[in-house]
Amino acid sequence: MDDLVITNARELITLSPGYLRRGNQMSELGIIYNGSIAIKDGKISAIGTPRHVEAKRKSRFIGAKKEIDATNKIVMPGFVDCHTHLVFAGNRAEEFELRVMGKTYKEIAEAGGGIINTVNRTRKATEDELFQNAIKWLNYAITHGTTTMEIKSGYGLSLKEELKILKVIKRLSEMHPITIIPTFLGAHSVPQDKSKKEYMDELLNEIIPEASKHAKFCDVFCEDGVFTKEEARQILMRGKEFGLIPKIHADELTSSGGSELAGEVGAISADHIVYPSKKGIEQMKNSIAVLLPGACLFLSHKPPVKELIQAGIPIAIGSDFNPGASPVLSIPIIIGLACVLSGMTPAQAITAATINAAYAIGVADRVGSLEVGKEADLIILDVSSYKEIPYWFGVNPIITVIKNGKIQDTKNWNSSQNNNHGQ
Ligand code: NIG
Ligand code: FE
Repeated sequence: MDDLVITNARELITLSPGYLRRGNQMSELGIIYNGSIAIKDGKISAIGTPRHVEAKRKSRFIGAKKEIDATNKIVMPGFVDCHTHLVFAGNRAEEFELRVMGKTYKEIAEAGGGIINTVNRTRKATEDELFQNAIKWLNYAITHGTTTMEIKSGYGLSLKEELKILKVIKRLSEMHPITIIPTFLGAHSVPQDKSKKEYMDELLNEIIPEASKHAKFCDVFCEDGVFTKEEARQILMRGKEFGLIPKIHADELTSSGGSELAGEVGAISADHIVYPSKKGIEQMKNSIAVLLPGACLFLSHKPPVKELIQAGIPIAIGSDFNPGASPVLSIPIIIGLACVLSGMTPAQAITAATINAAYAIGVADRVGSLEVGKEADLIILDVSSYKEIPYWFGVNPIITVIKNGKIQDTKNWNSSQNNNHGQ
């Protein structure tokens, strides 16, 4: 007997078949109008029109334990947030004010603010404080439809402090319904108490060998004044020796060679991609471009979406949730920003936040599309068309979240949001 059947969704957005989409394919949502979907043992057991799903169920002479009528609603895969920096302490509202008044992100960072500001606070926080803070954000994320999330370390910048953050990420993944994929980003900045050379040595010889036991990906902030292309290459190649798959913060503030490097080291994704060179776009064809519309909003960036799509580079989007460049965690808002700021269509943005995002963190065999056999991670939205997701900007359209086949009690989580964040 099926555990759950959702019937009559006005649009059942399947993203099926779940291949990595590029170019025109980015608009292919695989919509079934008036669709139904059945779930058993946490997996999708049938999908199609009501008649199709009914026939499947009758063929087993049984019904479902629970039914949800999704008339006038849409149903789609849970969002995959493929780029976050969710474990940190404090906030940087003062820097936000300075930026609004005209200072740039780079100027603030060079004056000892920026990432280092959060590193100082995160180092002072206990593991438990970081854990509690992160849970609040995860609860917020799931109520906004995120069912899978990548989380980067990177506010520790020493062996002990990076391991503290990776341990928090592990504890979160063990207790929270959101599936969490850990990324090591020790090369997020150079700590204030070390020279670049000292920290590079430490990263290559001490931190990467140890941190690699607790992460799937190795990321690096390849940027003018942070890690050069050659340094980033050394870090990513060393990570590879220890089984970490490369990712790059590439060409975010300036054209720094990150997109070229993505091709050279075989990165699964190159993220930000605001200022890629022509050669970089040419070279990163085997990587996914992860665009981060929250950072684009806060830093007034406009990534070359049309060029990337024309070049046939698959695009994913993520929140980049962090206390500096992108204090934005809601994927419906990120989809809205992708459309309004970056000129993506609603269909392209939805593809980018589901199946392509799943590919960007190596989980597309399990999630990102609604197909028989895949994990039953799906959301019901109180809108009548997917085009309304970016349109009702700032409204949370998610009314039901189903994770691994289980209906989540998101109302309960909403109330836990009354706590103060980042104190
Ligand atoms: O992806 N660019 C580097 N890292 C973050 C910003 C982190 C921060 O400002 O704390 C980003 O935007
Ligand atoms: Fe980032």
